[in-house]
Amino acid sequence: MIQEVIITTQNAEGVSHIAPMGVHIIDDEFIILPFRPSITLNNILQTESAIINYCDDVRIFAGCLTGRRDWPLTATEKIQGHFISSALAHKELKLDRIEDDETRPKLFCKAIHSVNHAPFQGFNRAQYAVLEAAILVSRLKMLSIEKIDSEIEYLSIGLNKTAGEKEREAWSWLLALVKTHKQELTQA
Ligand SMILES: Cc1cc2nc3c(=O)[nH]c(=O)nc-3n(C[C@H](O)[C@H](O)[C@H](O)COP(=O)(O)O)c2cc1C
Repeated sequence: MIQEVIITTQNAEGVSHIAPMGVHIIDDEFIILPFRPSITLNNILQTESAIINYCDDVRIFAGCLTGRRDWPLTATEKIQGHFISSALAHKELKLDRIEDDETRPKLFCKAIHSVNHAPFQGFNRAQYAVLEAAILVSRLKMLSIEKIDSEIEYLSIGLNKTAGEKEREAWSWLLALVKTHKQELTQA
């Protein structure tokens, strides 16, 4: 199973970094797979720890992809670091072992502490649409304009039917980036 989460890490100097990642879960192992180059990768190698944040505020996913990484953080309990203050839950991880790879190393981690902060309120198609659009935005350079347009058109159906303020704001950030990318492609 893969869970789409926000990973918070710190470098050796204590500077925090946040990034959306798809974490693979096998038994009691959490496998983080950052594509090189990656600040998340560097930080985990430096501190041998990471935090998984389970977030339903999809602005954080869209924000990280559009240069808005300044989300409120709270100090973690068992490891040095921070979790996202608005996360519904977080897990504090220690790095267990690494399967190195030139493109995408596998970082096998174990949870040493888990905390629930707020109840899960159910699924919303707009949250899903923003999450998928954020993934699309993270891969813009690999996609044709036709593919981007057709994905956005499909995702906007669920978005328009169910979005609240947060999802609309997140969507607008992503669409602005898509628009700029398309302009750059057509001018090139
Ligand atoms: C839902 C979602 C899942 C993602 N999963 C991954 C992932 O598993 N590995 C990865 O390298 N980037 C992933 N990305 C893209 C990264 O968040 C983005 O490229 C980020 O800047 C990673 O680089 P960093 O560690 O230097 O911040 C994902 C993005 C989204 C929106």
